[in-house]
Amino acid sequence: TTIPVIAVDGPSGVGKGLVTRWLAQRLPGWHRLDSGALYRILALSAHRRGVDLHEARAVAGLAPRLDIRFEGASEDDERILVDGENWTHDVRRESTGALASKIAAAPEVRAALLQRQHDFRQAPGLIADGRDMGTVVFPDAALKIFMDASPEERAQRRLKQLSAKGIQATLAPLCEEIRARDERDRNRPIAPLKPAEHAEVVDTTGLSPEAVIARVEELVQRYG
Ligand code: C5P
Repeated sequence: TTIPVIAVDGPSGVGKGLVTRWLAQRLPGWHRLDSGALYRILALSAHRRGVDLHEARAVAGLAPRLDIRFEGASEDDERILVDGENWTHDVRRESTGALASKIAAAPEVRAALLQRQHDFRQAPGLIADGRDMGTVVFPDAALKIFMDASPEERAQRRLKQLSAKGIQATLAPLCEEIRARDERDRNRPIAPLKPAEHAEVVDTTGLSPEAVIARVEELVQRYG
């Protein structure tokens, strides 16, 4: 018997966190993989050790050694522990997202994180959040959701999200960063951001969080 996976992919700031956390509550006992956090942690770890982010093999080499723990079910009580240290705040910075998308274009880095991502697939099931969950990491996922929204709307949402965490940001540069990161993620030759074949595309532009959840609930019901 294979352990079922729900893949939730899409660009940054589209609400994947909201949807995957909601699904984790909706489906008792299911595990959740925040694959973006793995790329963020690896980028930050390399940066802190003074490893050149262009040295893909050196960066990838750090991946198996990192002791990573995720705690807390909601965004507010989230704690990310790396080698026993609390990295939550630094991992969530927009600048860390930008570093992550730079190392994420390297095949060596993606390969190094593949096994770590597969390790999250445990009974009774996994909800996987990322860019290539449905296309590359879990191509046999039972349900593949691809979320999208305009960059402007995503920048607005990200701004709110950051300010709720006490992180200061302003809209125009945030919008620029989001666009630049999207471009890198969509145009890279390996595992580019795109809907998987048979993915259910959910355009969330103009939708409230409740409306997005209602749409996802429909999809979950349909897939039994
Ligand atoms: O989702 P999050 O913003 O945390 O992801 C940070 C970056 O990590 C993304 O912009 C992307 O470049 C990379 N990433 C990826 N594949 C994933 C998840 C994240 O390439 N599955």
